Amino acid sequence: MTGLPADRMHTFDPEMTSLILEYVRDRLEMNAPVDGLGDRADIQVALDGLITDQGRPAAEVLSVYIDSLADTILSADSPRYFAFIPAAPTKAALLFDMVVSAASLQACSWLEAAGAVAAENQALRVLMDAAGLPQTAGGVFVSGGSAGNLSALVVARDRARAQRLANGLADTRLAVLVSDQAHSSIASALNILGMDAVVVATDARDGRLDRAALERAMACLDVSNVVAVVATAGTTNAGIVDDMQAIADCAHDRQWWMHVDAAYGGAGLLAASVAWRYDGIERADSIVTDPHKWWFAPYDCAALMYRQPHLARAIHAQDASYLDVIHEVDTDFNPSDLAYHLTRRARGLALWFSLAVNGLDAYRDAVEHSVHLAQYAAQRIEEHPDLELVREPELSVVLFRRRGWELADYARWSRALLESQTAFVAHSSWRGEPVARLVFLHPSTTQEVVDQMLQTLR
Ligand SMILES: Cc1ncc(COP(=O)(O)O)c(C=O)c1O
Repeated sequence: MTGLPADRMHTFDPEMTSLILEYVRDRLEMNAPVDGLGDRADIQVALDGLITDQGRPAAEVLSVYIDSLADTILSADSPRYFAFIPAAPTKAALLFDMVVSAASLQACSWLEAAGAVAAENQALRVLMDAAGLPQTAGGVFVSGGSAGNLSALVVARDRARAQRLANGLADTRLAVLVSDQAHSSIASALNILGMDAVVVATDARDGRLDRAALERAMACLDVSNVVAVVATAGTTNAGIVDDMQAIADCAHDRQWWMHVDAAYGGAGLLAASVAWRYDGIERADSIVTDPHKWWFAPYDCAALMYRQPHLARAIHAQDASYLDVIHEVDTDFNPSDLAYHLTRRARGLALWFSLAVNGLDAYRDAVEHSVHLAQYAAQRIEEHPDLELVREPELSVVLFRRRGWELADYARWSRALLESQTAFVAHSSWRGEPVARLVFLHPSTTQEVVDQMLQTLR
């Protein structure tokens, strides 16, 4: 026992507060560098013995973070980060996220957090309007696209199971129709749910789940246990938007649940130049889109939206005597009832604040910027004697080949770009062959950065 008062951790510490706020201020001001990879041994040395019974001065621990850890964390919010799916949270969103943390805002139920829930719902309404969902739609912010996809598919499965039982059908293992380009989180969700994936090949359709691919699938695959179909609005690997109208027709004819995974691509709805690609998304039963991706919000934030939220509520609402009280008030607005979770950070407030401060036009411009930059990169690739564009970009992902390169060459190029802090890129593959992949998302990425990157391929 130290003899120190128990509440010492909870006593306001002006020095530590200034220290942290100063660091935060520097980070917000910084044009984030790409930063580097971590050396396991060095990190271990820095962390060894740091946590003790007695604790240490905040300045000392912050120094460990700044000197030994921060540089080993690649900045997904750098305008030079083009791997995976980058991030580009607005300053307003980042700042308000600190308010959410400082005020310990959890928004599980209307009873506990009416104002936070209402504000989150206002932000969700912007996303639902963009997708064309009806006024009766509703949703919730969850931790990521994977969590959103899983929660939506739980509803699809349990609703179908109940319908089948009501119709006297056997309680068999159910299945979901998915494209071979669907995100890995869909396969993972189906595995958790004990459902099968009926996979539609899209090679002949250039990676798109469209009417022809669906017709072929209906003719060749066993869809007898299918109860839902997943459309992707912006595939992760290539940025392809599936044919939403064809998928909606197919789902409607068979009374399947239509889920749209727009985790990466959803914000494209804001860009007039590509919004037409999403035609039919408004017919979905559920949609996931990640504000922590192209909607410029901080991690971790995904929007899960339902055409008929009462269906989700019937399946996800948790039942316990101590929770009865949250269901006795206005139950229309209990975010915890709409996904697999209970306690939840009011993570949608960062987006809400930023939408209100910046206005939707700023968002439209920012998304359009990424689309234009992808087109610019594609054009420069086509002009380059040693490069070959894999396909015209539809959103903000560009895939290309360097003639004569093998996988190891792409990996070497990526390392060299990182070492020179020119960019962070990661290779991928297309039809079994290695390719370079660039994802544009940050509004501060310039054409000069694209040129710099491509010049290194001469
Ligand atoms: C289309 C798509 N779906 C789902 C996910 C998973 O989202 P998260 O990483 O937020 O769980 C991603 C992530 O890149 C994605 O691009």
